[in-house]
Amino acid sequence: MRNRLDWREARVAEIRDIAEKVRLISFEVDGKVPRFDPGSHVTVGVIIHGEPAIRTYTALPAPAGQIAVAVKLHEQSRGGSRFMWQLQPGQAARLTLPENRFELSWRAPHYLLVAGGIGITPIYGMAQALAARRASLRLVYGARSRAQMAFVDELAELLGDRLALCDNSAGAHVDLAAEFAAAPPETEVYLCGPIGMLEAAKTAWQASGRPLSRLRYEVFGDSGIHAEKRFSVDIVNRDLTIEVRPDETLLDALIGAGVEMIYDCQRGECGLCAVKVLERTGEIDHRDVFLSSAEKAESDRMCACVSRLTGDNAVIDIGYRR
Ligand code: FES
Repeated sequence: MRNRLDWREARVAEIRDIAEKVRLISFEVDGKVPRFDPGSHVTVGVIIHGEPAIRTYTALPAPAGQIAVAVKLHEQSRGGSRFMWQLQPGQAARLTLPENRFELSWRAPHYLLVAGGIGITPIYGMAQALAARRASLRLVYGARSRAQMAFVDELAELLGDRLALCDNSAGAHVDLAAEFAAAPPETEVYLCGPIGMLEAAKTAWQASGRPLSRLRYEVFGDSGIHAEKRFSVDIVNRDLTIEVRPDETLLDALIGAGVEMIYDCQRGECGLCAVKVLERTGEIDHRDVFLSSAEKAESDRMCACVSRLTGDNAVIDIGYRR
């Protein structure tokens, strides 16, 4: 069960590698593509292990009638990036029109944009839009290596010395505390990166004494602290044990087993898919941004669309779901 989305038929118009393991895929979309804000997302229909599934990507600026996404090929892909990487020009596809859950306020006197790795995708569009409005901004972009950074030439031309690159392989890392300390009062931060970067940002932002409402973020749903491994869940009051492969989510495994789940974002943002964990071996690798740090510390709930177990088994309560 998912919120209603506006699905369109499309064809792959162009494929271009724009960084190491990052591929830009442009789709020619049937019907009118309305203007969309930076930070918007599209949902793409994919096939994983022969079954239809969906994956969500940032909608990038593209020519009229097109929607473009940048897809990083993940080593531990659950199948989404592998599917996207095997697409060929002219191939049919299905995707939704863009919708925005990571909106710019347009009101701040200064913007600090922070990107980690493939988190540059929404930040790139935001930088373009803000620069077009002559907004005051700075963009800090960290990645494992310079080769893995996408859109660097475009951003350098657009922003000049307002762009700071942090190439981890050369020993440069995003210094969030220093960035926040140097930001003018009333600055709004927009951050997209792995969950570890977000947790560090929240800690540094709170330490800086600034209001949490000015720190806005999204994370990759697949960025946990632990590597993906197989686990199983027993559903309380049912004679049902469900195996979860390393390359699928708990939510997908539950749905695949015929459990009716309510969900929406599949990115760990809305909390609709949360289940209660009654017993478990190992830890919960929380990968969502919905539960608070205190709720995660209690570890009796987990967002089934992104979070995983480090142990072998858990007993979960799916509540009212049939
Ligand atoms: S579906 Fe939104 S948090 Fe899982």
